[in-house]
Amino acid sequence: MNEPASTAERTASRSEVDVLFSTEAIADRVDELGGEISQTMDRDCMVIAVLKGSFVFCADLIRSLHRAGMHPRIDFLTLSSYGTGTESSGEVKITRDITDDVAGMDVLLLDDILESGRTMAFAKELIQKRGAKSVSICVFLDKPNKRKVAIDADHVGFTCPDQFVVGYGLDYAHYYRELPFVGVLRQGANAD
Ligand code: IMP
Ligand code: MG
Repeated sequence: MNEPASTAERTASRSEVDVLFSTEAIADRVDELGGEISQTMDRDCMVIAVLKGSFVFCADLIRSLHRAGMHPRIDFLTLSSYGTGTESSGEVKITRDITDDVAGMDVLLLDDILESGRTMAFAKELIQKRGAKSVSICVFLDKPNKRKVAIDADHVGFTCPDQFVVGYGLDYAHYYRELPFVGVLRQGANAD
């Protein structure tokens, strides 16, 4: 990272989070992603953000999609698989369902991170079963070595090292979502 770190980045680096993807790098990549997606999706597609982790990414990406000339509908699907720790429980549950009808729509599923793939495999199957015309996947981060089910994203923000990361919507035990960058929690840091 050559550019000067923001105050938040300096503060976090001094305490418990080591910056992995800076605010500026994220902004540049999300801007590119909007352009990439606009080449492959219907202008009037439906974006479904898988919550909670993707809410920050979704807010930035839909404005990038707008700049690329797209006009998406937006809905939210809350799934849980992790509990409050850093290990997946393996079981995916719907905590809050979408409210829009996806039948006949080109759907873009958004998530913060693709790890085992269970969350996105569950979401993709659900939306396909409800009659979507197509279902594409866009994830902000991808940990390809951690896959437990065969699924890949059509669009990836960054490939992520096999470490537990926080910030830009990603949490550790419900904390750190507000960080404007992505970083790795230092050993011994906790959510208190
Ligand atoms: P998967 O079902 O294993 O692919 O995991 C997807 C979900 O697990 C994501 O939507 C995140 O909420 C969570 N997750 C996986 N890895 C991380 C991480 O490094 N930091 C924070 N959350 C993570
Ligand atoms: Mg999540």
